[in-house]
Amino acid sequence: MATATERDALPRAIRHRFPLLEHQVYLNSCSQGVLSDAVREAYGNYLRDWDEQGAPWEYWMERTESARQSFAGLVGARDGEIAVTASVSAGVNAIASGLPKAGGRTKIVISDFEFPTVGQIWHAQESRGYTIAHVPQGDAPIVPLEAFDAASDEDTALVAVTQVCYRNGACIDLEGVIKLAHERGALVLVDAYQAIGTMPIDVHALGVDLLVAGALKYLLASAGLGFLYCRRELVEQLRPTATGWFADADVFAMDIQDYSPAADARRFQAGTPPIPSIYAGIAGIELMKEIGIEATRAHVSQLNEVLVAGIDELGGIVVTPRDPARRGALVAIRSTDEHALVGALAADGILTSSRDGNLRVSAHAYNTHEDIEALLGALKRHRALLAA
Ligand SMILES: Cc1ncc(COP(=O)(O)O)c(C=O)c1O
Repeated sequence: MATATERDALPRAIRHRFPLLEHQVYLNSCSQGVLSDAVREAYGNYLRDWDEQGAPWEYWMERTESARQSFAGLVGARDGEIAVTASVSAGVNAIASGLPKAGGRTKIVISDFEFPTVGQIWHAQESRGYTIAHVPQGDAPIVPLEAFDAASDEDTALVAVTQVCYRNGACIDLEGVIKLAHERGALVLVDAYQAIGTMPIDVHALGVDLLVAGALKYLLASAGLGFLYCRRELVEQLRPTATGWFADADVFAMDIQDYSPAADARRFQAGTPPIPSIYAGIAGIELMKEIGIEATRAHVSQLNEVLVAGIDELGGIVVTPRDPARRGALVAIRSTDEHALVGALAADGILTSSRDGNLRVSAHAYNTHEDIEALLGALKRHRALLAA
């Protein structure tokens, strides 16, 4: 049996780098990661460079390339496969606008677990001749492979799946969905925002075609920075019309005579890169690499085992799948009034969030077993706000 110190060796080694943790129990990394010394320093460096050098554009372009490399390393992407965007929405819009109507395919299949921005962007394509098919949740809190099977056919251009659902923490069987989609000749777009930084992913091993994610949650950075991965062989088949000068083959040619997108994934970018967020993003991603994504996954899985067992003991309802392999970092618990529960916990110094009738508890590498015990103690006191 591991001692308390052994169980929490990972968080104990890093907690001093996150000042907020000295006075709050923070279980809301699915919304925003805690500010670290490294990210604070990165923002300071941005202001220093601006203040001392005025307009160090060459260095800022170099920072953009560093962010591209950092993210590429995180997902196993190769040269020319990453675009640095301002959000997941910007990436999905670029993809949607450039999708080839190969073989006249006009159907987009999306899971019912998608984040609103993904559903809304694909539905916006209806006016461009696409039809959108939704894959519903089954009886269990997952979207079953059979439902993807039923929704996809020879007319399907693309299947959009969220890796971990922002509402209930369900983790999709990515391998299964990709296999099914590819059998039909369809592309797969993965929204990895709720998974990135909490579980390892290798886009090539999985055969992902397109992937989008952002920096502000488990990558510990801030809003304004997103990434897009596009499999190298696919890049030139997509010609985004949602575009801009930083997508051009030669950005500083300043040519207004034609549209000549970059030969690599930079073609999915648009305007001036979000430089302040890039400084922060590099710091956050590199810090997460240093902490270790595998170690984070193992630690958070342990915390969530304790959490789920504790909720069972309280007679509460865990909405997230019971199978640890089908869970992300987020655990959702049914509430009678989720806003009141989030408020009551905040008054106890425990920060969480809610969606869809559920309390969302999202642990990260810096959370300890004590944090989970503090939450379970508070939930016992606020038992009336848990659905039974
Ligand atoms: C799964 C998922 N996708 C997308 C988003 C939002 O993306 P963006 O605001 O960068 O467009 C979020 C953020 O909350 C999310 O959880």
